[in-house]
Amino acid sequence: MRFANKVALITGSSRGIGRAIALRLASEGARIGVNYRRNAAEAEAVAAGIAQRGSEALLLQADMSDAEAVRAMFRQVKKTFGCLDILVANAAATAFRPLLRQGEHNVTRTFDLTITGTLVAVQEAVPLMAGRQGKIVTISGIDSLRMLAGHGLLGAAKAALENMTMYLAHELGPRGIAVNGINPGLIRTDSAQMYAGGEAAYAQYERDVIPQTPAGRTGRPEDIAAVAAFLCSEDADFIRGQTLLVDGGLLSSSIASREPA
Ligand SMILES: NC(=O)c1ccc[n+]([C@@H]2O[C@H](COP(=O)([O-])OP(=O)(O)OC[C@H]3O[C@@H](n4cnc5c(N)ncnc54)[C@H](OP(=O)(O)O)[C@@H]3O)[C@@H](O)[C@H]2O)c1
Repeated sequence: MRFANKVALITGSSRGIGRAIALRLASEGARIGVNYRRNAAEAEAVAAGIAQRGSEALLLQADMSDAEAVRAMFRQVKKTFGCLDILVANAAATAFRPLLRQGEHNVTRTFDLTITGTLVAVQEAVPLMAGRQGKIVTISGIDSLRMLAGHGLLGAAKAALENMTMYLAHELGPRGIAVNGINPGLIRTDSAQMYAGGEAAYAQYERDVIPQTPAGRTGRPEDIAAVAAFLCSEDADFIRGQTLLVDGGLLSSSIASREPA
């Protein structure tokens, strides 16, 4: 129960990696703010999973690309829990297409969510973490390090996020807050399969590529949740400003540039 008496807010935790992080932290005792954008039913199911693990959830509908909505969400957190120990900036969405076909509104939306939304969340989280050894974890993506067709915009935003993670570690270290990130490689979530062209295309990719990676298996949301829990624990106290690549060895495999679909 490493997170007994702790409060954690996970953005985008109605599905996928965010959901796994929320359930993992709850299973170790944390009370959880479950942020989502649209899928209230999925968020409620996560809250039920948190209750089954003996903890408490607060459902927080907020579009993380809307700074005012983010501030309103933190007012709810303050009112309900009065403090915050852990913030995981996980929510992401973008338009996957070549950069030459990206509209300015796509650029604005992607950066509003990945960069502005994360920064406003951090600004709101810091006062709630005062005197509490806070932990902040950002979730990047392999497209920040390796070309994936159609990922140019998200890759640029995630590269900026990794850089911001390093700067935040320096700014917030003196306040007793540790900031790190995770770059999850490829993880089997509903969205990952959809963007890869569906279940069949993703399964084909797994058959062709994954056996040639050191881990030899597909990444699961729980793999990322385990590392997030480590980064939020005191065992990770001497890791600062890093974005850890957690990809089963995919990026360093010579077949890595082969994409799903
Ligand atoms: N899966 C992978 O292979 C992979 C690889 C590298 C990096 N990542 C990164 O890992 C993170 C999670 O990925 P995932 O595959 O788990 O994603 P996912 O299954 O698409 O889930 C996205 C989550 O973010 C929420 N969300 C989306 N836009 C939002 C917004 N504007 N405001 C608030 N919440 C929003 C969604 O809420 P709703 O349910 O309400 O829509 C959902 O809970 C992302 O940062 C992604 O870039 C994933």
